[in-house]
Amino acid sequence: MKDNPNKNYKRILVTGALPYANGPIHLGHLAGAYLPADVYVRYQRLKKRDVLFICGTDEHGVPIAIAAEKEGITPQQLVDRYWADHLDTFTRFGVSFDNFSRTSAPIHHETARAFFKVIYDRDFLVERTIQQFYCESCNRFLADRFVEGECPRCHHAGARGDQCESCGSSLEQTELIKPYCKVCGHTPVLRQTKHLFLKLNEFQEKLVNWLDGKKEWKENVLNYCRGWFNEGLGERAVTRDLSWGINVPVEGYEDKVIYVWFEAPIGYVSATKEWADKKGQPDLWKEYWLSDDTKLVHFIGKDNIVFHAVIWPAMLMGHGEFVLPADIPANEFLNLQGEKLSTSRNYAVWLGEYLSRFPADPLRYYLASVAPETKDSDFNWQDFQGRNNSELADILGNLINRTLTFARKQFDAQVPQRGPLDALDQEMVRLLAEAPAKIGDLLEGYELRKATAAIIDVARFANKYFNDQEPWRSSRDNREKCATTINLCIHAARTLAVLMAPLLPFSAEKLWAMLGHSDSVHDQPWDGCGARVLPAGHALGQEQILFTKIEDSQIEPELERLRKALAAMRGEPIEEPKPPALETKPRISYDEFAKVDLRLARVVKAEKVEKADKLLKLELEVAGEPRTIIAGVAKHYQPEELVGKMIVIVANLEPAKIRGVESNGMLLAAEDGQGRMAILSPQGPIDSGAKVK
Ligand code: MF3
Ligand code: ZN
Repeated sequence: MKDNPNKNYKRILVTGALPYANGPIHLGHLAGAYLPADVYVRYQRLKKRDVLFICGTDEHGVPIAIAAEKEGITPQQLVDRYWADHLDTFTRFGVSFDNFSRTSAPIHHETARAFFKVIYDRDFLVERTIQQFYCESCNRFLADRFVEGECPRCHHAGARGDQCESCGSSLEQTELIKPYCKVCGHTPVLRQTKHLFLKLNEFQEKLVNWLDGKKEWKENVLNYCRGWFNEGLGERAVTRDLSWGINVPVEGYEDKVIYVWFEAPIGYVSATKEWADKKGQPDLWKEYWLSDDTKLVHFIGKDNIVFHAVIWPAMLMGHGEFVLPADIPANEFLNLQGEKLSTSRNYAVWLGEYLSRFPADPLRYYLASVAPETKDSDFNWQDFQGRNNSELADILGNLINRTLTFARKQFDAQVPQRGPLDALDQEMVRLLAEAPAKIGDLLEGYELRKATAAIIDVARFANKYFNDQEPWRSSRDNREKCATTINLCIHAARTLAVLMAPLLPFSAEKLWAMLGHSDSVHDQPWDGCGARVLPAGHALGQEQILFTKIEDSQIEPELERLRKALAAMRGEPIEEPKPPALETKPRISYDEFAKVDLRLARVVKAEKVEKADKLLKLELEVAGEPRTIIAGVAKHYQPEELVGKMIVIVANLEPAKIRGVESNGMLLAAEDGQGRMAILSPQGPIDSGAKVK
């Protein structure tokens, strides 16, 4: 086992990056930050550590102001909607925040203003007068993304005032070529305005030294920081000319707000305060934030690295009272079917939509298996389906199902008594006993992919153990061996329930109940879970299906939607899928066709055939001659409807006895694939007996 990375810490404070409240949650969010954070937290809870999991919505900033303006609602209305939406989808996905707050909450405004004031009072802010774009038509300064134009580096047309999405460079808005106001399209003018700047440069040395001590941090995180240090940290404006946001607590700044990236991370502190308030112990937040023995861990995506690993620590150092981050396990991005995700073009999988069609756990499993830990990775629907079916259903689900079914049939749904152990039994016992520490080390080191693989490996081994021990055979000639095998398989299931609880919280709880427990698997201790054995005679619960297979027909609509979004994104015409090709019988010659004598016939009388609900008996007149046929059209036509109608019959068909009546011919009717039927009739006036060709 590795050295305990928590030995210097009394408690763990885990944060998930505060998601912007201007759009729903998608899979990229989950894979990058929230799923890894949740698995880590759930694991720490099973380890019985003091752990707190904090998040909330990031509700200020220009994109939110623009989105609200576009919808014709207030920013507050917009963020109210998304705060509720995020909380709901996170909950249904099993993300177990201890508090999900929001940056528009009064407690955050207070906390952020107080923090800002301390930084200001300690002289880490400096006032600078700058030239900034002003839209004379909208009557406002254009902060950040309110102005767009051509990128001075790559000449991409829609570059934003703070960054070009196309080449990734961060920009000063005054560098934009042909700038225009994002809202009204007017060309802005330059005006003077003053802002407060954070003297980030004063923190560089301290930051470099601090990060030097973070040897175990992920390479991608350290690399981003080195890049920033090489360029040299400059001053960063921390106020904005905007109306939506947190007021700057400095005289002369009444019409400005604090820059969203300055106040949002302070939201971690406010959310902790709110949690403590709700608990009725308003000072409890201090234990987490004001002591060095708190392990502060920020889970984020790579686009947030500099803010969390450079600017935020500088702010914390400048403030001076709070604990610094102990780790920032940032992930790379998740692509979608091999393409970059685009929320604005709807090329994304939205969590809410996913959850309306599939359960949470298979997605948690799949995202963990392909987590973008060291490089960008890909979400692929077919791969998702494949792993669900071949790993969750066929390995884990199958092990549980066959074990519990066997125990029910052979041992009256009770844990059978264990006998002497053979070599294979002993290997199974050892593997289970060692699994918690092994998987725990991986989870502790944020190695979600490996931990996931290790969990399924335990199930794979147990499945093979079941096969190799052949309990269906020993049940006939060696009851003691059979009992031992099933006892150990139940033991494996019980161990797996705890091991999978952080990753598959819903299925683990279901499995726990199937094993005959009435408490929660999430309250069990992780340590030693592979050695804790259910006593012989313990009554098992009712088995249920843990994982259902996902059919092709379930993922086809998902692929279809993404295909269309991609085509629209590239400006390609959207191809509608072609209807299946027409399948005909083998070709025949005209002579063969000419053998069929088709004639018009008039229906003289029609009646139902007794005890045959599909059949009608039709009395026909064909060129003056009477004829009787039986036709299978009663489901579609009432007898009265047909009387007097002209129809087409095969006049030279061999007679056949149907329900005791001789039928002399067959009428022509068309049938489609949707259960509809229509009898064919001539379109103009014509005599019965006429030939049809
Ligand atoms: N809202 C940001 C994003 O989604 C993350 C903010 S994290 C915080 O990229 F620390 F600033 F809150
Ligand atoms: Zn404008």
